[in-house]
Amino acid sequence: MNPQITLTEHLKEYTRHVWQTNSEQTFTENIKLFTLQSRSMTYALAVLEDGYVAHVYYGKKIVACDLTYLLRLDENPWTPKVNRRDKATFMDTLPLEYPCHGTGDYREPCLMITDKNGMSTCDIRCKSHKIYSGKPRLEGLPATYAAEPQATTLELLCEDQHAGLEVVLIYTVFADLDVITRSVRVTNIGAEDVNLRRVLSVCVDFDSDKFDLITLNGSWARERVVERSKLHHGKQGVDSVKGESSHQSNPFFALVSHNADEDTGEAYGFNLVYSGNFFAQAEVTQHKKTRAVMGINHFDFNWLLEPGESFTAPEVVMVYSANGIGEMSRTFHDLYRAHLIRGQKKHRPVLINNWEATYFNFDTDKLLEIAKQAASAGIEMLVMDDGWFGHRDSDNSSLGDWFVYEKKLRGGLKFLVDEVNKLGLKFGIWFEPEMVSPDSELFKKHPDWAIQIENREMTLSREQYVLDFSRQEVREYIYGMMRKVLDSANIEYIKWDMNRQFTEVGSLALPANRQRELWHRYVLGVYELMERLTADYPQILLENCSGGGARFDPGMLYYSPQIWASDDTDAIERLKIQHGTSLCYPVSAIGAHVSDCPNHTVGRTTPFKTRGHVALVGTFGYELDITRIPEADKAAIPAQIADYKKYSPLIRDGDQYRLGNVFADNLWDSWVFVAKDKSEALFTFVQVLGRPNYRSRRIKLKGLNPDYNYKNTKTGEVYSGSALMNAGFNVTLHGDFTSEVFHFLRTYEQNDLQA
Ligand code: DGJ
Repeated sequence: MNPQITLTEHLKEYTRHVWQTNSEQTFTENIKLFTLQSRSMTYALAVLEDGYVAHVYYGKKIVACDLTYLLRLDENPWTPKVNRRDKATFMDTLPLEYPCHGTGDYREPCLMITDKNGMSTCDIRCKSHKIYSGKPRLEGLPATYAAEPQATTLELLCEDQHAGLEVVLIYTVFADLDVITRSVRVTNIGAEDVNLRRVLSVCVDFDSDKFDLITLNGSWARERVVERSKLHHGKQGVDSVKGESSHQSNPFFALVSHNADEDTGEAYGFNLVYSGNFFAQAEVTQHKKTRAVMGINHFDFNWLLEPGESFTAPEVVMVYSANGIGEMSRTFHDLYRAHLIRGQKKHRPVLINNWEATYFNFDTDKLLEIAKQAASAGIEMLVMDDGWFGHRDSDNSSLGDWFVYEKKLRGGLKFLVDEVNKLGLKFGIWFEPEMVSPDSELFKKHPDWAIQIENREMTLSREQYVLDFSRQEVREYIYGMMRKVLDSANIEYIKWDMNRQFTEVGSLALPANRQRELWHRYVLGVYELMERLTADYPQILLENCSGGGARFDPGMLYYSPQIWASDDTDAIERLKIQHGTSLCYPVSAIGAHVSDCPNHTVGRTTPFKTRGHVALVGTFGYELDITRIPEADKAAIPAQIADYKKYSPLIRDGDQYRLGNVFADNLWDSWVFVAKDKSEALFTFVQVLGRPNYRSRRIKLKGLNPDYNYKNTKTGEVYSGSALMNAGFNVTLHGDFTSEVFHFLRTYEQNDLQA
């Protein structure tokens, strides 16, 4: 099906009360209705005669009809009957697509300025529109992409003549997915400077307050905890003011009906394709409606727009599901796998990373020892983590000095990589390009390259400063050093880390009236460098990381097909982290490794088998000293890898159904991956805590074809899809932290069906 955007014009007659005369007047208005249709969703908006762009409807698919009655332009619900504040009340109740500050809409605005006279009011009216096949790129920003027949785009060109601004609202609707993306481009078409104080990316004025708000919050080592609460009057939401999307909140939220669960109810998901400060808010208004907004955080933000200049707000992805939170997640996964993650199809070798194995304490011999044993266990790549450069023996030096630490890497990098390659392993390397240590040659040479405020003390965090990536010469220098390293040996993977938040946010290169642009200019600088890196080294697999999972966002996924999800590698903690992450990000993107026990972060000991089953729901690898782990664990690695290779196409490309919820029930967790054609399923069960005197648990599978028969490939037992889904599958496990996976293949055998 082609996604459709239709324009219809409707002549409407309605009555408006006019304050001065205390009389009623009848207006005839020509309303343009734009209807965006995807597979099972409709989004409608209207341009009124005076140019206001009003929101009409967002939800389950509606066959083409005149929806303008939903605007309620002819209703008069107020008492006393005559509304004495006609225009202002109108503005404060009209559902708007892109609300401005200052003309009577007291809900959260998307656009706010300071003009040449110091005024903050703005008011945009639509002048014209464009509808075309395909999807535009966003200048300098990551965004979802689509070939022409897969998406259709509507652009509404609006203007504020008084401020001299053109504001283009960009909507793209996808063909086979219930997805709309939105962005905004603001251009100064006047003769005077304008300061943009906020340019959010999206507003949806829902006609109800009957929603729960779902957000992903946390901290270092416990990222993306799912929180759900009922909306109430006032404003509630999440944001980041740290310079990165952050451990504490993710640029995602969903509004779901109160009854919504994994399979039923409505879910509206919002995800910002951006990696810096963000703002996401749901506001319940006086009339019990909900305004949802999202975009770059306006906190400490200002952007000077000189005549002729444009500013583009990052894209928001909006997903609609009429069938619960599970379907919302699967739509995000499908969209991101096919239309955002450019490296999605890249081979993901099973890697071993030396961070938890050695921390800073390694040398060539140690790495080769690890590589040797890794190779014989079937591991495919060695990743050398932090500590190989400058004179870095701990986290207190050398960031910015991207040349080999000869004391550790005897014989140099090429020697090490060649030796690793000879063992049959690929080689990957760690960088933290955005940072500088005070104890580094770089900082001694260019102290002004760090983000700072002149003559103000600079705050250290993890013993490091943030480089001013808004500056071309800084990016150029760092990239030059990275290139030298990358060109010196056969490097096939990069882990790009980022380990601190921003303080004293100032650039010694920007004029005073552009200082507040630094937050965003920094992010654009990071994107520019990642773009260059991935274009120049297309064969390299890039994995993002930020002190664990502080930059797990769609912006980063555009450049790197996988992101390290958390520094917490404990299998039980990972159940929560990976469950929360899966709300909008596909498993193929979730960096997950088997580590040693007791776990370095929480001190828990779990079976090696369970660690393997949990890491399978991710990119799968190892983060341990293979030369020191128990023999039994080492012996289990080849079979784990064989399982990963066998199941990874299904896990990477299939549909994920969450069967358990460790946030609600911490006794067990479970999930199943089902092939798109329903011919295969991989079902995992993890028992967090064992129970005395209980028999098996019966777990109902999801996503199968009820009319197919499925064979348990281990036992040969055959079950009908309807039995597995409606009655369930019996799982018997003994003990804490135990787990099992069950693989089902479609079979045509009819006999001995088990129920
Ligand atoms: C934080 C990352 O999350 C870790 O995996 C590791 O790479 C360290 N940084 C190294 O400093």
